[in-house]
Amino acid sequence: MSIFIPYLHIIAIMVLMGSLISEHLILKPEMNPKQIKSLATLDFIYGMAAVLVLITGLLRWFVYGRGAAYYLSNPLFHTKLTLFVIMAILSVFPTIKFLKWRKEVNSGTAPGVDEKSVKRLLMLIRIEILIVVIIPFLAVMIARGYGV
Ligand code: HEM
Repeated sequence: MSIFIPYLHIIAIMVLMGSLISEHLILKPEMNPKQIKSLATLDFIYGMAAVLVLITGLLRWFVYGRGAAYYLSNPLFHTKLTLFVIMAILSVFPTIKFLKWRKEVNSGTAPGVDEKSVKRLLMLIRIEILIVVIIPFLAVMIARGYGV
C-alpha cells in the first residue's frame, strides 16, 4: 500500500495534466457539437483526477508520509497546497462554461461559444497547466528535506 499510494498520486497527476492539455487543444471559437461534448467529458476526467490527487495526497500526508507534523511545519508544503487550491478554484470557471455549452448542444440550441470567453478560458487552463508544472518542483524539494 505504501508503494501503491505514491504510484496513484503520480498516475492521477499524469491524467490531470493530460486532460488539461487536451482541453487546451480542443477549445476554440469554432467547435462542432462533438468537440463541445468532448470538452465536458475531459473536464469530468480532470475533476476525477484532481479528487484522486487530493485523496492520495492526503493519504501520503496523514498515513504513509513522514508524519503529518513534518509537512504542516514546512512552508514549501503550504505553498504546494495553496497552489493546488488556486488551481481548483480556477477550474470552476471552465467547468461552468463547458456544462452550459453541452446543455445547449443537447437541447438543440446553438451554443453561445464566443471568442472572448474562449480566450479567457484558454488563459485559465494555461495558468492551471503552469501550476501543475510548478507543484512537482516543490514536491521533490519537500521529499528531499528542504523547507524544514
Ligand atoms: C497537482 C497537484 C499535485 C502534484 C503535481 C503533486 C506532486 C507530487 C510529487 C511529484 C510527489 C513526489 C515527490 C518525490 O517523492 O520526489 C508528491 C509527494 C507528495 N504529495 Fe503531492 N502533488 C500534488 C498534490 C498534493 C496534495 C493536494 C497533497 C496533500 C493534500 C499532496 C501531498 C503529498 C505528500 C504528503 C507527498 C509526500 C512527500 C514526501 O515524500 O515526503 N500532494 N507530490
